[in-house]
Amino acid sequence: MGNYKIICFANQKGGVGKTTSALNIAACIARSGKRVLFIDSDPQGNATSGLGIVKRTITHSVYDLLIGRANWETTAINTNVRGLSLIPSSINLVGAELELVDEADREYRLRNALRGAEARFDYIIIDCPPSLGLITINSLTAAKYVVIPVLCEYYSLEGLSQLTTTIKHIKRLYNPNIELLGVLVNMFDGRLNLSIAVLEEIKRHFAGKLFRTPIPRSVKISEAPSHGMPITDYDRNGKGAAAYSAVALELMKRCESGGN
Ligand SMILES: Nc1ncnc2c1ncn2[C@@H]1O[C@H](COP(=O)(O)OP(=O)(O)OP(=O)(O)O)[C@@H](O)[C@H]1O
Ligand SMILES: [Mg+2]
Repeated sequence: MGNYKIICFANQKGGVGKTTSALNIAACIARSGKRVLFIDSDPQGNATSGLGIVKRTITHSVYDLLIGRANWETTAINTNVRGLSLIPSSINLVGAELELVDEADREYRLRNALRGAEARFDYIIIDCPPSLGLITINSLTAAKYVVIPVLCEYYSLEGLSQLTTTIKHIKRLYNPNIELLGVLVNMFDGRLNLSIAVLEEIKRHFAGKLFRTPIPRSVKISEAPSHGMPITDYDRNGKGAAAYSAVALELMKRCESGGN
């Protein structure tokens, strides 16, 4: 135990950039020479395909971990990014929440399946689905840290307070170690007054927790997954790659210093 680095990207609001951010940050961390395991716990499997994995070739997935049929060692596969391994998602994850309803330890399945993985990987990054259901609960129970990607929109703060309440519940019920590592502003447009106003509001609520570099809205960022590449490979000199590299550095620093 101790300073293990399992980081969950969560927000029950859809389309805020959980997958995009988790994947690109994981790739940046791997690029810096660390060993990284990425867990795609979203049935949509966007991260799995974004990493260039063809879904019909998958034999094992996060589903097998949740159902208790496999562990990380038998499910992790290599990706095109050196140092980045993946436990892919599969469509049968859709049913996992229902299948687990009556099972003992249903909140701890992912944590149990990851036992020993901290010794093999420097960072474990989990991409959550847009809900606060059992899959997200499993991810938050397994994690040490949460990163919350947000958009600078009017309703963002409402969603944030719901999520921080959930994190408090998880801390009390299943995982006393869980900590908010940071709030990451995505698709930021500094020309919009609303974006700037919401950013100020987020700063007020999450003082030291906001990552210094916002991720800009960028067509290249949205194109990269269809080429099965992280932004640092697809458009290595662009502003998206620069922003994600900066955030990845800041995130690693925070983890090294135990979350601050
Ligand atoms: N910085 C950005 N600039 C431009 N497009 C972006 C950016 N971040 C994300 N997108 C695009 O926005 C959409 C939603 O992003 P993403 O899938 O990462 O969000 P999500 O929170 O994981 O969604 P879901 O809740 O469905 O899992 C995608 O089409 C993605 O390519
Ligand atoms: Mg997603």
